[in-house]
Amino acid sequence: MPSLSTSSHLGSLEGRSPVTVKDLQAKKNRGEPIVATTCYDYSMARIIDQTAVDFVLVGDSLGSVMLGYSSTIPVTMDHMLVFSAAVSSGLTRALCVSDMPFLSYQASLSVAFENARHLMQKGGAQALKIEGSSEIALSTVRAFVDAGICVMGHLGYTPQSKHRFGKQYLQATTAEDGDVLVRQAQALEEAGVFSVVLEMVPTEIAAKVAKALSVPVIGIGAGARVDGQILVLQDLLGMNPSFKPRFLKTFGSVYDNIEEALHRYVGEVKEGVFPGKEQSFFTKDFPS
Ligand code: KIV
Repeated sequence: MPSLSTSSHLGSLEGRSPVTVKDLQAKKNRGEPIVATTCYDYSMARIIDQTAVDFVLVGDSLGSVMLGYSSTIPVTMDHMLVFSAAVSSGLTRALCVSDMPFLSYQASLSVAFENARHLMQKGGAQALKIEGSSEIALSTVRAFVDAGICVMGHLGYTPQSKHRFGKQYLQATTAEDGDVLVRQAQALEEAGVFSVVLEMVPTEIAAKVAKALSVPVIGIGAGARVDGQILVLQDLLGMNPSFKPRFLKTFGSVYDNIEEALHRYVGEVKEGVFPGKEQSFFTKDFPS
């Protein structure tokens, strides 16, 4: 575990009380950046929880990152439940937000509530994220918020609608589209979201959205003039060296570290170096 007292990168951790949606709002009000990452498993969640990351998103990006799918569309509620439960078990401080996966809320409000109930009761989610600003999305947000559920919106590039976008990742590239985006974000805020993720939007337009909303706007590929940033954990750690979109900065070389460790392990087993005496048990150590 990292030493909490020695690294200035960890930010102020005094108190270490669980992060709530009100803390995120207070950060926006103070102009303090919110920091988030995705996470899909218990061991990573435990590490993240020792840092000053504010919230963790169990994103449906787990479809590609953890399951090797080419999109988020095959991700089901069953997947989300397993991964959310694993992540929430590893968190005591960071807020745990889980994605409502593809078509998990559109069929009817009762299906939406049933899935939300599972994600919160079995998956340990403390808040749920819903993509888009369709009438169905807005009425689901209203109903969830009315039931006391914290909901995060997601605008700009929304991966569950990838077939509608085609190859166009960057969204709202004109002033008119920017105005539409602002109105969509305002509709989500009126519906009651506590925050909005903005994905793949030019900096100036994202800044306009963040200014127009009183709730925090969290960007990914949306520049620096929003209220916080989120990245996919494996991307920021450098676990996929061939994935180099412009918006990504890697803060580690985990792929290289893992590969190097595995080469050393294979080498030591082959050379008879591992296991050594220190890693072996001997009957003399266990008198019968
Ligand atoms: O699923 C996900 O990881 C996301 C983030 C990219 C915001 O929605």
